[in-house]
Amino acid sequence: MTKKEWLDKGYIDEPIPDNVDIKAEIRRMCKEKNAVIMAHYYTEGEVQDLADFVGDSLALAQKAAATDADIIVMCGVHFMGETNKILCPDKTVLVPDLNASCSLAESCPTDEFEKFVKSHPDHTVISYVNTTAATKSLTDVVVTSSNACQIVESFPKDTPIIFGPDQNLGGYINSITGRNMLLWNGACHVHEKFSVEKIARLKREHPGAKVLAHPECKGPVAKIADKVGSTAALLKFSISDPAKEFIVATESGILHEMQKSAPHKTFIPAPPDDSTCACNECNFMKLITLHKLYNCLKYEWPTIEVDPEIAEKAVRPINKMLEISKKLGL
Ligand code: 13P
Ligand code: SF4
Repeated sequence: MTKKEWLDKGYIDEPIPDNVDIKAEIRRMCKEKNAVIMAHYYTEGEVQDLADFVGDSLALAQKAAATDADIIVMCGVHFMGETNKILCPDKTVLVPDLNASCSLAESCPTDEFEKFVKSHPDHTVISYVNTTAATKSLTDVVVTSSNACQIVESFPKDTPIIFGPDQNLGGYINSITGRNMLLWNGACHVHEKFSVEKIARLKREHPGAKVLAHPECKGPVAKIADKVGSTAALLKFSISDPAKEFIVATESGILHEMQKSAPHKTFIPAPPDDSTCACNECNFMKLITLHKLYNCLKYEWPTIEVDPEIAEKAVRPINKMLEISKKLGL
């Protein structure tokens, strides 16, 4: 495969000989290159199992900011790699497949968001971390689903706020904090698909089961949930809560860690409204395979690059989030 073909594809498709122990080689290369593998809970179980650190988007950003590795391999989606690169401009940041986008980030084109922001000059701009670096550069403070309510609460009650891009998360924050933030109308193609009727039916079949929902789900799903939270918060709840069964309304990759952490409990993935598609899987996260991870470490490509001017602006709201989170003990 030529470099031009790599660039066109966005990942390295080179075959790996049968006699190569891929997992052992990945670990060996990490040691040799002083690389750290970070993975989000939505990636394939075998990728999570091989990672040095698995976490939600807040924990992944915090870990990146603190690492002394020379190379960060971000097994997750593109914006997560960008956040790492912005926080660690001198390190090599790799994402094994550059096609691993995010429908939420895509639902917020920077030029349109800029117009929206400019038409409300008196508003503080709060952006979800699921945005491109360019959108973050228009932002006052970044949040993740782990800290969004607390960060919004840290602003005086009468602060006019724009929140983007997830209208479901924004609506959830408004309902919890009593704010009236102006919302961008973006959504995640996985989370907006969960069916409240099908979850209610499952609940009737499993009366003892508790419903766990990510705040990117639509309002009616969040309303019937016993726990709404980030992937890390849902995982924590599923371990500590005495219930034996859980209906999980977030991307199904999280079930891997839930089942590993509480093997005696039953985790039921919440069904999407259209049962003909695997809508509870993030097709972007699932692009990250062991094969691509191996080639990416071997050739140290694809690297994540962020325009220095954008990075200089985007680092401020990310650091602000990390500072507030630290102060709040998150
Ligand atoms: P977390 O912040 O809970 O990890 O969620 C990230 C995400 O992309 C949810 O779809
Ligand atoms: Fe983006 Fe949705 Fe995938 Fe999360 S699950 S990375 S919000 S597309």
